[in-house]
Amino acid sequence: MDRQSHWQTVYETKAENEVSWYQDHPKTSLALIRDTGLGPEGRIIDVGGGASRLVDCLVEQGFRRVTVLDIAPAALERARRRLGDRAALVEWLIADVTGWTPPSRFDLWHDRAVFHFLTEAADRAAYAAAMAAAVPTGGHAVIGTFALDGPERCSGLTIRRYDADGLAAEFAPHFEMLAAMTEDHPTPAGKIQRFQFCRLRRR
Ligand SMILES: C[S@@+](CC[C@H](N)C(=O)[O-])C[C@H]1O[C@@H](n2cnc3c(N)ncnc32)[C@H](O)[C@@H]1O
Repeated sequence: MDRQSHWQTVYETKAENEVSWYQDHPKTSLALIRDTGLGPEGRIIDVGGGASRLVDCLVEQGFRRVTVLDIAPAALERARRRLGDRAALVEWLIADVTGWTPPSRFDLWHDRAVFHFLTEAADRAAYAAAMAAAVPTGGHAVIGTFALDGPERCSGLTIRRYDADGLAAEFAPHFEMLAAMTEDHPTPAGKIQRFQFCRLRRR
């Protein structure tokens, strides 16, 4: 099954809280975004945002230049439906980030649990190039992957695990790491998954 079909099937067959990555409230992402100091005029992209509630929280906080990109149309449709009228305040993009050329620039690039699916070096390089092209000097990135002692698979796919230095190294020389933290994410099924998050700044 190709990448898009895999993810489209996931969102067509599982309810929002039946996927391991579901969170009511993306508190670590929100804390790291807050720490960037970005104001509501900031342009934010949630890469592989899926049906995450991060966009709801950002709109609630007054952000009006939010983009959510995902490979699975069904994921974005679910988020749009949930947001109702507020969905019109958000830009929705269907794309594979590894083949995507950013059409505009973003002050903040957010990714929770997407980069870690890129097990091929060429895909990681394409992702890093898109991120560097999208974020101007002084801009920010917040990236979360499974930690070194986190799960080895997600959604039936093999992933790559990272510690803070390993994750930051993927984005050097264009980004420097400003902060790192781990999070123990409780899945809806009651397991704990350790994530590694980094906050980076574009050089
Ligand atoms: C584990 S889910 C995480 C979703 C969301 N970031 C969250 O925290 O709830 C991974 C998401 O990345 C999307 N995805 C996977 N590979 C992608 C790619 N190459 N380009 C864009 N989106 C991708 C999937 O459709 C899915 O929504």
